[in-house]
Amino acid sequence: MQESVGFLQMQGVVKRYETKDGDVHALNEVDLEINQGEFVALVGPSGCGKSTLLHILAGLVTEDQGTVSVWGTPPKAGRTDISIMFQRAVLLPWRTVLQNTVLPAEMRKLPKQESFARARELLTLVGLEGFENKHVWELSGGMRQRVSLAQTLVLNSPLILMDEPFSAVDEFTRERLNIEVARMHQLANRTSVYVTHNIQEAVFLADRVVAMKSRPGEIIEIIDVPRNGERGLDFIESDLFNQKVAQVRYALSSFMEEDSIK
Ligand SMILES: Nc1ncnc2c1ncn2[C@@H]1O[C@H](COP(=O)(O)OP(=O)(O)O)[C@@H](O)[C@H]1O
Ligand SMILES: [Mg+2]
Repeated sequence: MQESVGFLQMQGVVKRYETKDGDVHALNEVDLEINQGEFVALVGPSGCGKSTLLHILAGLVTEDQGTVSVWGTPPKAGRTDISIMFQRAVLLPWRTVLQNTVLPAEMRKLPKQESFARARELLTLVGLEGFENKHVWELSGGMRQRVSLAQTLVLNSPLILMDEPFSAVDEFTRERLNIEVARMHQLANRTSVYVTHNIQEAVFLADRVVAMKSRPGEIIEIIDVPRNGERGLDFIESDLFNQKVAQVRYALSSFMEEDSIK
């Protein structure tokens, strides 16, 4: 793994948004290195800059200061080696599940036959076999997020960015989808960056949990979660899981108290 160290790098990243009520200091001096094959979760309260950080990695937002590189080049929207999945599935109502799944490949004009074959394969992987020809309005919220996940994976990008992808689905469905995400990450030796405000979800998925604070958005602490075998329901019941959840919660709560004292 030595050669892949620092495959994704952020150094001294600062981002401010100008608003009519003044500047919002969304990110301050963010340093982060992610290695190939890692699963990193960003966790923190609403407004701590998680989405901003992810959007910078996707090339959707440009940093004001600092440097960002993914395999040595700055991120850029439309790169096929970076895929992003949003909180709300971006699906077209007039298209079928299969046609929605191939959309990112179609937009980049990738070979049609291969894209359709891959989309079918992915729909089976995310548990939607038999739903290929349904329309998205015929699906439940959880199923739509499964389509969105398949859509995110259709480009076969080595870097997958996910922004609270399952925050709108019920807890039971989210747990199952998390198991799918963990499996897909491992299957393809991808690198994943996952935004959530749910500590359990972060610990369940990640090799490293990046705890963040707001005003300004900064990294407080990075917590390692050792990977002993696969991430499944056994892990959720383990002592290690509970210890790590407590550790992340402690890191976050100490800053929230400081914030409220100021
Ligand atoms: N496009 C924007 N214009 C103005 N302010 C923004 C914009 N996007 C985010 N912000 C502000 O920047 C801060 C960080 O936002 P965000 O990255 O969305 O945090 P998170 O995803 O952790 O909730 C918040 O205070 C938010 O209101
Ligand atoms: Mg957000």
